[in-house]
Amino acid sequence: MHNDIEKVLFTKEDIENRVRELGAKITEDYIDKNLLCIVILKGAMFFASDLMKSIDLPLDIDFMIVSSYGSETESSGVISIIKDSELDVKDRDVLIIEDIIDTGNTLNKLTQVMKDRKASTVEIATFLDKKERRIVNLDIKYSGFVVPDYFVVGYGMDFNEKYRNLPYIGYLKKELYS
Ligand code: IMP
Ligand code: MG
Repeated sequence: MHNDIEKVLFTKEDIENRVRELGAKITEDYIDKNLLCIVILKGAMFFASDLMKSIDLPLDIDFMIVSSYGSETESSGVISIIKDSELDVKDRDVLIIEDIIDTGNTLNKLTQVMKDRKASTVEIATFLDKKERRIVNLDIKYSGFVVPDYFVVGYGMDFNEKYRNLPYIGYLKKELYS
């Protein structure tokens, strides 16, 4: 285990099992749809990669980078699109793939953007849901795990750009970020 990690929350095996379940569910739900996955970089890269491989359907893949955090630890409700998706979302069944939902500001805004662009349907798949921190009402169709209000890293998630490549998800030692 990395020295900066206080506790492992989900092991590589926990993650693999849960992602497989989510993939199977999405495969069932999207069988007659026109699926376009929009991966929110950078945090969702590993989750999205594993999830999309476990969806047994044709699908298109696109990427967005949105900023909501900077190096602070709370999002503001104002997000900016740093890199936009390239494929036309009109009449597509868009699945936004995110690493973790905290206040909900980022995904609330992005869902609205996809609806404005005339996507047929817009749903969210997030690996982690920090439910108790939610400040906007958000309908999350696919969620890996609900987690308490601690800062987590690994499996794509960072603190100041570090720890993304850890194959597990863990709590960062408090003295490192407070
Ligand atoms: P929201 O707009 O407050 O929902 O912020 C969601 C974004 O904040 C996520 O996409 C993450 O990039 C980041 N974030 C929130 N909580 C954590 C955490 O515990 N670890 C790492 N990133 C986090
Ligand atoms: Mg993110």
